[in-house]
Amino acid sequence: MPFVPAYNRDGLQPNNFNMFEVNAMIVYDGKRKLFHLKNEYLSLVLCLRPDEEGTEELLMAYLGAPLTDPASILYMTDLKNGASFDSLRQILPYACPTDARGDYRPALVCARDPHGQRCTELFYASHCIKPGKPALPGLPASYVESDSEADTLYITLRDGLTGLTAELRYTLFTQRPIIAASILYQNEGENALTLENAGSVCVSLPGRYDFIHLHGGWAKERAVERVSPAVLSRSVSSARGASGHEHNPFAALAALDTTEFSGECLGAALVYSGDFAITADENAFNTTRLTLGLNPRTFSWRLEPGCSFQSPEALLAYSDHGLNAMSQALHSLIRQRVCRGEWRDKERPVLINNWEGTYFNFNHEKILNIAKAAAKVGIELFVLDDGWFGKRNDDNCSLGDWVVNREKLPRGIKGLAEDINALGLKFGLWFEPEMVSPDSDLYRAHPDWCLHAEGRRRSESRNQLILDMSRRDVQDYVIEAVSAVLRSAPIDYVKWDMNRNFKEAGSVLLADGRQGEIAHRYMLGLYRVLENVTSAFPHILFESCSGGGGRFDAGMLHYMPQTWTSDDSDAVERLFIQYGTSMCYPASAMGAHVSAVPNHQAGRVTSIRMRGDVALGGNFGYELDLSAQSPEDMDEIRRQVALVKSIRSTTQRGVFTRLESPFEGNLTAWQFADDKRIILCVYRVLSRPNTAPARVRLHDVPEGDYTAPDGSILSANDLMRAGVRPIFPREDFASCVMIFEKKN
Ligand code: DGJ
Repeated sequence: MPFVPAYNRDGLQPNNFNMFEVNAMIVYDGKRKLFHLKNEYLSLVLCLRPDEEGTEELLMAYLGAPLTDPASILYMTDLKNGASFDSLRQILPYACPTDARGDYRPALVCARDPHGQRCTELFYASHCIKPGKPALPGLPASYVESDSEADTLYITLRDGLTGLTAELRYTLFTQRPIIAASILYQNEGENALTLENAGSVCVSLPGRYDFIHLHGGWAKERAVERVSPAVLSRSVSSARGASGHEHNPFAALAALDTTEFSGECLGAALVYSGDFAITADENAFNTTRLTLGLNPRTFSWRLEPGCSFQSPEALLAYSDHGLNAMSQALHSLIRQRVCRGEWRDKERPVLINNWEGTYFNFNHEKILNIAKAAAKVGIELFVLDDGWFGKRNDDNCSLGDWVVNREKLPRGIKGLAEDINALGLKFGLWFEPEMVSPDSDLYRAHPDWCLHAEGRRRSESRNQLILDMSRRDVQDYVIEAVSAVLRSAPIDYVKWDMNRNFKEAGSVLLADGRQGEIAHRYMLGLYRVLENVTSAFPHILFESCSGGGGRFDAGMLHYMPQTWTSDDSDAVERLFIQYGTSMCYPASAMGAHVSAVPNHQAGRVTSIRMRGDVALGGNFGYELDLSAQSPEDMDEIRRQVALVKSIRSTTQRGVFTRLESPFEGNLTAWQFADDKRIILCVYRVLSRPNTAPARVRLHDVPEGDYTAPDGSILSANDLMRAGVRPIFPREDFASCVMIFEKKN
């Protein structure tokens, strides 16, 4: 049975570590024509409403805390009196809105018919309820390990004129405050249709909500922004061919008084890694609509008769106990039922990566010297980054030529990996398989294998072009090129990088009318490659990366259980980045490394202690030339490695709680908790004289007594009510990590 934090309902006696034996239930009430999805944590009520012509529209009447009787909510959709007909269309909470019929809010679905008309109308046709959860062929998705973990409601809507059907699927997880939703579109008509919008889910809520999202750029990913409501649409999206650094495919609606620990909120995340759009719309009638799906700006899809199209999946996490509970529900689901494979539940190794230590300037001997120093302090894995293949001594060439550079590594990858293994370390390797350098044998042999638009320039970015992953021959090449290297040497880890975004995105193999399919076809091709490679090498730990955290999403995590969080490795910057990332993603997904000072991105000098204390909030590693560190720093590094090994079961699998936000003050704090210990991490950016001591109160501490770092015994109650006082060194950029071991 999965570990799922239960949510403390009385505020004082935390019961986070109990298991609830609650069955998810989906009930269809034929008399009142409503569907009630309900578990311990939430209710979702959908209902059918006959329109003026007798056809039935599907409405989302309620999503929130569990209801006793779902009929109590139907007044929300029974709006015949008072509102004018036109107003009504802008108030009703449609579950699958189209552009037709005077609902002028953002739509979820649009199909162009053979006459070019876009007036899609979708009415109820049928439904069924099944235990378990369906897989989404070719797409990443959450999953169950047994049918008892979830029930799924399938509701089919149909456009009588074109024959387009939309099968809406809502999966309620039995023991989680989570619904997974997606739509299977089908053309049951006689003519081809063009999908111009094929969204994943539409949520309707009455009232006004703050909109929370994660934005940024290279080296400043996932800053938390909370914007107050306004009568307009707000959207976050990507048209880059990847989920991107700028916006993340996650957003939340929060009641205006919701805090980290109280109030209602709904987190929504797409399990997808390409172009997406999330729109929050509040209109003059105070109804809020949230839509998630593919980005209509870069999407169209020709749907032939008899063919289907599957939307990506959206995860909806409801909390009436604040933002932390919402995040914890997403962390738990993503870690346990989106991530897969041997490494899903295993403790992740402490690694050293040579990128910031050497960049392209390395050889066998230099790498081995770093690995020898790493072995002495207990590091478990050496990762060789960019520059080991072709003629690659800078970023101008060789992507696509996955053949070792014998000038740098005369004994090849195998010889180096064996030497590193002999030191007691595992060996890992960097790839950027989706790319090709114009100066490469691959490009010279196959100039049409890159994404490009006929008659247009091929704009480079970081001196490289993007392979056309929509093509089967390109997919097969990438699978074989990467697999050949992985077969050739003892490789236990792969870093899968992706360092540029789309510009002139077209494919020579797509018919003229289908070029609008390229962004999604690229992702389908990439997912096929990832499925093949990761399942052929199940023992390998895969980490994804995209110029740092430019593709940090639940889609990539389905194939690779961890992601490089950001190219910004500065300890202070990382407080913001890791804190923001935690709104949706678990700590076990975040790569976090200690790097050299002055920091290569920010120029800041922070202590080795602070850098280590920040990095232990994620998958811990080093990224500096270990063979050139002072003896004092090596002693501290040895201490850090031992500490991380002793507590990583808690940091990687425990419950993560945000306590103090770097976006709001000088202090940042978060805690990890499981039934063994509580780890409290507190960071202070600037030292200020003559200030009162800080006090940090822990949250949701499982009942019992704990041994504090000074040996005193403290109860869970007192840790939460009185809190503790972090002691900092008198300097800027200071940290204090306190571990409270649970007594038997
Ligand atoms: C971008 C990544 O984020 C870095 O960690 C490094 O792997 C470089 N690419 C190598 O080119």
